[in-house]
Amino acid sequence: MQTIYINIKELLQVREISVEKVSGKEMSILPKIDNAFLIVKDDRIEGFGTMENCPSLENFNVIDVEGKVILPTWVDSHTHIVYAGNRIQEFVDRINGLSYEEIANRGGGILNSAKRLNETSEEDLYEQSKKRLEEVILQGTGAIEIKSGYGLTVEGELKMLRVIKRLKENYAIPIKATFLGAHAFPTQYKENHSAYIDLIINEMLPKIAEEKLADYIDAFLETGYFSVEETERIMEAGKKYGLTAKIHVNQFTAIDGIKACVHHGARSVDHLEIVTDEDIEVLKNSETIPVALPSCSYFISIPYTPALKMISAGLPLALATDYNPGTTPSGNMNFVVATACIKMKMTPEEAINAATINAAFAMDVSNEVGSITKGKKANFIITKPIHSYYQIPYEFGSNLIEKVVINGKYI
Ligand code: NIG
Ligand code: FE
Repeated sequence: MQTIYINIKELLQVREISVEKVSGKEMSILPKIDNAFLIVKDDRIEGFGTMENCPSLENFNVIDVEGKVILPTWVDSHTHIVYAGNRIQEFVDRINGLSYEEIANRGGGILNSAKRLNETSEEDLYEQSKKRLEEVILQGTGAIEIKSGYGLTVEGELKMLRVIKRLKENYAIPIKATFLGAHAFPTQYKENHSAYIDLIINEMLPKIAEEKLADYIDAFLETGYFSVEETERIMEAGKKYGLTAKIHVNQFTAIDGIKACVHHGARSVDHLEIVTDEDIEVLKNSETIPVALPSCSYFISIPYTPALKMISAGLPLALATDYNPGTTPSGNMNFVVATACIKMKMTPEEAINAATINAAFAMDVSNEVGSITKGKKANFIITKPIHSYYQIPYEFGSNLIEKVVINGKYI
């Protein structure tokens, strides 16, 4: 039997024909229907409209959601939720005055997580990671990308990617896996970068490809991490195995990395806390989408991505959490949307577009999720009774979600 949700106060991001993404020019428009109905058949959206045109209810399982808002589940296109342990001590060290860079230089940071991960069994890692995944689904995330990058050894990277594969098999939401062997140089390669890149290209990549463990390839293109040239080697090697790039770039410094990413056909460039006019020019007329990670800026006190500058230049923008133990120990997309509004001055419409349809483009799932469109997966959020969707960013610390529906079923 089909289910019909009736008396929906606002049905958001509703599109007769879905788009892949919305450009900066259109991001201020969030298509919606007030006083709406929504029909779900099995795991798919079957139809919608205004209550005036609501079909007779006899043949439906009827759910009255009066006073509540329905919107597509969030899409989180950038996470590192597979990790071992935590970095709580570094958090306290930062409060006491150390910077992210100083902590990393003392052997903390990514290398700290890599040490723990290599000491953790695959089973234990799966158990730790699945709790995070379950938590973020309850917070409204209905599609997610997950990176490796805390192994930094052949075995460690494979272990992470196998955990992601198990998550894909056991959870009902779309999950994409990204290989991030180029996250940091292990200590023994500090003076011999090319040897570590050889390891990535000649040892890790062939095994990952053989087991079909990755959808994308990533690198941390940053001063003190992977240079433009080193990242280009990684992107080229990935391409040979059919892996499109999604790159961490411009988090702390602008070193012309975005140009290289665009040139290599990257799906997305992520972080972009520091952006030059030239970077914006390069992104125009490209198919590469910028992804901002405001919870990271919030947590480690670095600048926010200049969203308005990019949006007013016509660029599409996506939002993601960056959930990881070092710079963003939170996977809450509601907070990301609120922070984008509060700190980056995005309007609620822009932020919701960025966290749904544009985020879906960033991980290539916009044919399945990201909008309320006939034929797409019935993955959506039902809020508690609220005044309007503006309340979602306004009450930034509250949980306004009453139910999360994945594949037509309550979680
Ligand atoms: O996206 N910037 C690089 N990678 C992560 C942080 C990694 C860590 O500190 O563990 C990020 O912020
Ligand atoms: Fe990240």
